[in-house]
Amino acid sequence: MYDLIIQNALLITFDQDDRILDNATLVIDQGKIIDILPKGSVLPKAREIVNHNAQLVTPGLIDCHTHLVYGGNRADEFEMRLNGVSYEEIAKQGGGIRSTVMATRNASLDALYHSARRRLKQMMQYGTTTCEIKSGYGLDIDTEMKMLKVAQNLNTLKEVDIIPTFLGAHALPPEFDDKDQYIDFIIAKMLPVLKKENLAQVVDGFCENIGFSHAQIRRLFTHAKEHGFRLKLHAEQLSDQKGAALAAQFNALSADHLEYLAVEDIAKMRAANTVAVLLPGAYYFLRETKLPPITELLKSEVKIAIATDANPGSSPFLSLPLMMNMACTLFRMTPYQAFQATTINAAYALGIQDQKGSIEIGKCADLVLWDCEHYNQIIYDATLNYRKTTIKNGKLFA
Ligand code: NIG
Ligand code: FE
Repeated sequence: MYDLIIQNALLITFDQDDRILDNATLVIDQGKIIDILPKGSVLPKAREIVNHNAQLVTPGLIDCHTHLVYGGNRADEFEMRLNGVSYEEIAKQGGGIRSTVMATRNASLDALYHSARRRLKQMMQYGTTTCEIKSGYGLDIDTEMKMLKVAQNLNTLKEVDIIPTFLGAHALPPEFDDKDQYIDFIIAKMLPVLKKENLAQVVDGFCENIGFSHAQIRRLFTHAKEHGFRLKLHAEQLSDQKGAALAAQFNALSADHLEYLAVEDIAKMRAANTVAVLLPGAYYFLRETKLPPITELLKSEVKIAIATDANPGSSPFLSLPLMMNMACTLFRMTPYQAFQATTINAAYALGIQDQKGSIEIGKCADLVLWDCEHYNQIIYDATLNYRKTTIKNGKLFA
């Protein structure tokens, strides 16, 4: 007797063989996919049977880059930008990331939890079953750990799997006036606490003029790697800092943003299996005009993932179907590539490709049952939510 069977499903697997199976049956037990039966098979016994009426089932969507936990909002800065002040100018004036840092420091753990939970619920509505969450709006030990604890508490709800990432090197905190000294502080004081409290296994940074230099990130990465952390990098968002090449050199899981990525650095990412995470919401919201080198990336066999970058400054968006739509319209990716980018490739960007991201025997039963027949409808009709049911680790959520 198995836990759950989904019958009469149109499956799109996103596994190695990229199969589309109509009239298939999924057998789920103890949170895992244990069998995929073709059309006409005899159904095994199960405690619960769902007939999906020949409609689409995909892997649960994976949002591999978010800053979901933060205090306040930046609606005023949005208006300032539309009155002609640039994102970088706002940051230089002490706004931007720094203003969210103040709001996040002043918020209680409870308040941060409730605002993030509200956002997470909305993400779930649109099919997200796994979500990465970065710290980076604390920039002191207590607040960074507070943010990561919120992420941990959200994870215990077991509605969405949360992958926490430490982004201490996001901006210079007001207590410091020297970026090198702050990097020293992260290395000497923050990484050991992080390690001890085991609140994140991945370290990220912001390699940019308004963030940290190539040399500073290299120093951080060297120490983080020694501590056994996996790495990620905000690279080439506003200028070419050779961040993606640095990420590749350290075998980072991903390099993210990449609008200013130089074509010659793509091969380095490919060789290191560093995933290119594209964030069309930030491109759109900051009215960026420099496109990432999409054609070359697609030709190169670098895996491309897409995420929301959900954050108050550059991408206040929570819906992956909307991001897929933007990836298609703004970056000219195909709907199929966009779907791959929020499932299996996003799993690679988080290093969880063995458990998640495709419909495969042995993987977690994280699935979305959609109220339509073709994946391209979900992207085309991005604001008409086709999600009908989510299966999270084998459990049904309406
Ligand atoms: O991914 N680039 C740096 N970090 C965020 C923006 C954070 C903010 O503006 O609050 C990003 O775009
Ligand atoms: Fe980001």
